This record gives sequence, structure tokens and C-alpha cells, in this order.
Amino acid sequence: MKGIILAGGAGTRLHPLTLVASKQLMPVYDKPMIYYPLSTLMLMGIKEVLIISTPEDTPKFEKLLGDGTQIGMKFSYKVQDKPNGIAQAFLIGEEFIDNEPVTLILGDNLFYGHGYLDFLKGKLDDLKGALVFGYPVKDPERYGVVEFDEHGKVTSIEEKPKHPKTKYAVPGLYVYDRNVVEITKSMQPSARGELEITDVNIAYLNRDELHVQLLSRGVAWLDTGTHKSLLEAGMFIETLEARQGLKVGCIEEIAFTQGFITKNEFENLIISYPKNDYTDYLVSILESN
Ligand code: TTP
Repeated sequence: MKGIILAGGAGTRLHPLTLVASKQLMPVYDKPMIYYPLSTLMLMGIKEVLIISTPEDTPKFEKLLGDGTQIGMKFSYKVQDKPNGIAQAFLIGEEFIDNEPVTLILGDNLFYGHGYLDFLKGKLDDLKGALVFGYPVKDPERYGVVEFDEHGKVTSIEEKPKHPKTKYAVPGLYVYDRNVVEITKSMQPSARGELEITDVNIAYLNRDELHVQLLSRGVAWLDTGTHKSLLEAGMFIETLEARQGLKVGCIEEIAFTQGFITKNEFENLIISYPKNDYTDYLVSILESN
């Protein structure tokens, strides 16, 4: 299973913050936003990740994350010239995907919850079709909305419907089998000129291959797209971290605890960091292991 983080877009709702830096580089308390979706992929056991962003911002992500070897990952980068839709990621990433199953996560989607993706471990590569998630929200009309029957079988999926059939929004985390590139190639841009991820999901639904997994109420899925929601996400992370003494979305910790790097490599990484609270935390993780 490969992973793609889509971290482009215009970020107009965050102007003027996003005039010179991408939304996904903004701080969510103590780390850049992209660390959170990246940590989600790492917790799913995905080690090969393509990061897609704008022509201006892609070099910044490359500077931030490098080739990934420092955390036992393999990163590559591609540019999306214009925000022509989320599904364009599969066309830009065709070579990277190389006929394998792929998980796509949006660079501004932040999840938190104990072991919320553990059930996926080891099952991802055998997935037939597509898997999306369902998360209850009070404003489903802002999202893709999924409807399903009593057996959990998807019956419809609609993009920003005026009259949502359910309260279940589809978060920006999607798992696809190897057919996703071909399916995307056969699609046309929508009325707003974008290759829509919901159209990819509808194509899978039409093949009777769209699965949905509901995220439990113990999982937080946070929005970071507006000034208020960005601040609230930062405060949420700060509260959790201060209370528990554990970090959320700390990619170095996850690399170590998932066994992507050895204790020795973890120690050398820590030595290369400046002394501050973040580094002190990594030291405490090292010492407690
Ligand atoms: P959006 O929230 O639709 O757009 P945006 O982030 O550019 O923000 P705004 O509405 O304030 O202008 O995008 C969701 C995520 O997908 C976000 O991380 C940006 C990313 N994205 C791309 O990288 N390329 C695209 O073509 C689109 C449509 C989105």
C-alpha cells in the first residue's frame, strides 16, 4: 500500500495567512499541519508516500521532510500546477502508484483517537474496491455525504448536497485498490472544473465496490480550514498533550514505536535536533523504551 498526501489548494479561507505559505505548513500547536496526516499514514503502516503541492510550496515540503530516510520513510514529491480537483492526485501520482493500492489523505485532515485505524492493519493490500469513512457531523451539507443500508452497504454518496440524506460526512482519507488510476482517467471534470473525489467514489459504487467504515464517536476529526477552526485544532492538541504528557502526530515518535527506525537511529536523530520542549519529549520517549 502506498500513500499520497495532497497538500496543495488555494487556502483562500485562510488568507492572508496563506498568501506566502501553504495551509498545510501552518502550525497546529507544536508542529506543521502536514505532520498529522503523515502520522495517520504511518500508523496505517504505510512507508512510501508521495506529497503533492503547489509549484511554490512543494520545495518547502521537501525542505521540511526530505527523502524520509531519517524516520524510516520514503518520500517523493510532485507538483499540482492548479487546484484542479482532489482526484487529480491519481493522475499526477500514476507513476508513483505503479499499479498498487493507494491511500489518499488530504493534507489538512487531522484525526485523533486511540487505535482508530488498527483494524486496517494488514488488511489494506487485499482490499477489493474502495474504502471511505463516515463521520457524523452537524453540517453534512459542507462535505461528501454517504448513505448506507442496515448491512453497512453504501447506497449513495453525494458531494455537498443541499438536502443531505444522512449526517455522515466523508473525511479526507480514502483507500483504493489498483484500479483507481484507470477509473480517474475515464472521468470528466465537474461543473466547477474539478476532478471530483466523490465521482471516483461513485464509480466504485456503480461497480458495487465502495465500502464505508464509520469512525466511532471516540475519534476526533478536526477541520483546519478557517482561522477559528485552525486555532481550535491547535488548542485541542495543546490540551491533550498537556494533560497526557503525550504528543499527537509526532512523526519521530511514531517512526520509533512502529519500528521504522532503530533505537540507535532514533537517538542520532534526537542528537541532531536543537534543544527545546519537542526534543525533550523525544528524549523522554527514548528513555522510557
Ligand atoms: P479545499 O478545502 O477544497 O480547498 P483549499 O484547501 O484550497 O481551501 P479554501 O477553500 O480555503 O480555498 O481542499 C481540501 C484539501 O485538498 C486541502 O488540503 C487542499 C487540497 N486540494 C489540493 O491540494 N488540490 C486540489 O485541487 C483541491 C481541490 C484540494
